[in-house]
Amino acid sequence: MSVVLERVSTPTPGAVSPGRLRGFHSGAREIDSTEMHVEGRLPSWLRGGLLLNGPALWDLPRGGYRHWFDGLAMLHRVQFNDAQVRYCSRFIRSEDYKQSVAAGAPAFSAFDTRDPESFVERLKHLNKPRVTDNPAVVMSRIGARWFATTESPYLVGFDPNTLETLPRMEFDDELDIQIMAAHGITDRHGSYWNVGIALGQKCVYKLFCVHPGNHRRDLVGSIRVAKAGYTHAFAMTPQHALIWETAMRAQPLGFMFSGRSYIHNFKWDAAHGSKLHSVSLADGRVKTWDMPAMMCFHAVQAYERGDEIVAELCIYDDATVFDDLLLERLRSDNVLRSMPRLVRYRLQSGRSDALLETFGEGFELPQVRPVRFGQSGAAVAWGAGMDTGRSSTFLDRTIRLDLASGERRIWQRPAAVQLEPLFVARPGSSAEDDGVLLVPTLADDDASSVIGVIDAATMECLATLHAPQVIPFGFHAAWAG
Ligand SMILES: [Fe+2]
Repeated sequence: MSVVLERVSTPTPGAVSPGRLRGFHSGAREIDSTEMHVEGRLPSWLRGGLLLNGPALWDLPRGGYRHWFDGLAMLHRVQFNDAQVRYCSRFIRSEDYKQSVAAGAPAFSAFDTRDPESFVERLKHLNKPRVTDNPAVVMSRIGARWFATTESPYLVGFDPNTLETLPRMEFDDELDIQIMAAHGITDRHGSYWNVGIALGQKCVYKLFCVHPGNHRRDLVGSIRVAKAGYTHAFAMTPQHALIWETAMRAQPLGFMFSGRSYIHNFKWDAAHGSKLHSVSLADGRVKTWDMPAMMCFHAVQAYERGDEIVAELCIYDDATVFDDLLLERLRSDNVLRSMPRLVRYRLQSGRSDALLETFGEGFELPQVRPVRFGQSGAAVAWGAGMDTGRSSTFLDRTIRLDLASGERRIWQRPAAVQLEPLFVARPGSSAEDDGVLLVPTLADDDASSVIGVIDAATMECLATLHAPQVIPFGFHAAWAG
């Protein structure tokens, strides 16, 4: 299929923040494949495509978005060939993108931007609420088919080579869910697992799986709770899915009637604590453990050790992080008040509460080597980090964390934002950290974004790649080999 991509001129009203904060502003362009300047020496084995996803357009002529998470999605590809590295970028033509650009203002409710529709208009399609499909967060695969997602149930297809938008995945099933974790998990067979939530008087988490070539979301297990927690991701071991119920709890009537932004239909509810649910992949059986109230976006990993399940999560003690990431605060360089903590939850079969071990802080957007996923637990994780002495205003370093000893090795550029490091294994390697990290960064003095190529064992910078523009700060990357 061939689609003619119209060029988008991006208005950027108001003053643009200086230096590294340019990454929180609109202005990114669609750029056809162009050579990137490389400094240093790239590993000879590094061949393939780094895909980046993230919000890139927050400011429209007649209205803008309030939150970092809200911007309209852009994909970027950094292609490592034999002789050169090339870059290209494209906005995703989601329904939200097309309607919002045409209207010159947000057309859908977003993470922290209100629904532009009136109450009366919403009542007219109460049985089929309008939900954004702006997939600015994650890229995943079902078999060889790529798609991008946010926290709504839409899977928006794209071509990983041209970045052309492809049709949304249409499912031939009756799975009733209104929201979905942005992070699904693709297993070694190419099957895609994720957790959706049906909102109602009681809420129901639904673990489902889509096999390659199929158009059915097969229900594997479900959990009925009073009010579901905000769910950005989940974790898997070879035997179980692990769903953490944050204390940021859904207000189902708010989703239906209020017109409030997505996150304002959740409410912090520390009194009921949080829970971890395991769902057996074999028979859907559910077990639940209680734990103190927490908020969490991402798991480092989950694994099983004897009859104990271990989940290592980056958690927050309250919901401040959502306000910390409002654009106005970020563009003004306000210090993040929230600090992620690394907590290891040990889930034992004879107990109803989780055992907790804190093993660090200032560590987010975690990575472990995928081939070891869920087997016995990775020994090393990489992530974006902050100074635990609270001198950082934002994520400003790349950390290699030894999960047993707590030893940290750090790569840091001066006065820079450093985002999620993507681990790429050296082909044929077996050591867990034999490969490189690809790290999007932007420093105060950079002309444009700089991608660091870092030795994942030593954390030495091998090379830097210089993009032809400032790549707006996004969240997650993927490797298209
Ligand atoms: Fe995420």
